[in-house]
Amino acid sequence: MNPNSESAELGPALQALIIRAEQALDCSLPPAEQSPVELHHAMRYAVLGGGKRLRPLLVYAAAHALGTDKAALDAAACAVELIHAYSLVHDDLPAMDDDALRRGRPTCHIVYGEAMAILAGDALQALAFELLANDTTQQVDTATVVAMLHALGRACGAEGMAGGQALDLTAVGRKLTLVELEHMHACKTGALIRASVQLGALIAGADADTLDALDRYAHAVGLAFQVRDDILDVEGESAVIGKTAGKDAAADKPTFPSIIGVDSSRARLTELTETALAAIASFGEQGSLLAELARYAAHRAH
Ligand code: IPE
Ligand code: IPE
Ligand code: MG
Ligand code: MG
Ligand code: MG
Repeated sequence: MNPNSESAELGPALQALIIRAEQALDCSLPPAEQSPVELHHAMRYAVLGGGKRLRPLLVYAAAHALGTDKAALDAAACAVELIHAYSLVHDDLPAMDDDALRRGRPTCHIVYGEAMAILAGDALQALAFELLANDTTQQVDTATVVAMLHALGRACGAEGMAGGQALDLTAVGRKLTLVELEHMHACKTGALIRASVQLGALIAGADADTLDALDRYAHAVGLAFQVRDDILDVEGESAVIGKTAGKDAAADKPTFPSIIGVDSSRARLTELTETALAAIASFGEQGSLLAELARYAAHRAH
């Protein structure tokens, strides 16, 4: 099947939120002309000019489902995208996936060198926490700020993204079980996606039951997103996906297609999308942006 036939474009509400997130990111990054210039250039290069902005969109969409659109969402939207951008810079390094193409452009270390790419990743990670801790809108109480810092810290640490990346590296060349593979994916990609939804919901003042329903949604979307990423590595074209296709098989990475095949991977995507939609059914029309993002995560063309 032509992967483009599965593409789902985002509607105008989400497109507008992408523009909002990009403006907020631009403002939150250090100015290019300010010293240390090379580091700031590398940070801006890694974040601006490409990317689907799925994680910021999930922050806004979760708050939208709860009827909130606060200015404070912008810092949280930036924070999750900065962590994501940092994770991509490090993921592409020669010591990790050794990729030269990202978002249709040379990777950060190809342009700025490995040392500067490592530092740019470090600084992006720190900036994410700085933004969350410093709520300039004064719309978020201190307990909520602490809860958000805690959620983001867990999502990018040893039990989240960094841990999942470690599992990914040690799994090379080994045949993982499906349970092990799903755990690895849930950590390396799912954790930050869950945190994105959680941050939006925390800012909106969600209660424990609502947080729980949204977390079931986010868990399914996070996994679906990485299953789709694995399928695109097999079926996508570099010019469309903006990264070198076929790298997973070349590096002998355990992926959904390599373990259960492409057809079963697609079936799993359908299941996960249904799980995600069922988890947010009670939000009705207010959950429409979340529903759109669940379908997009599973069917995107890049
Ligand atoms: C790529 O993430 C890495 C994964 C976690 C699968 P995205 O597909 O969200 O990358 P961008 O931000 O759109 O470039
Ligand atoms: C990376 O997964 C997930 C991250 C935490 C960055 P991949 O290695 O599959 O992501 P791509 O395919 O390089 O974007
Ligand atoms: Mg990787
Ligand atoms: Mg990679
Ligand atoms: Mg991949």
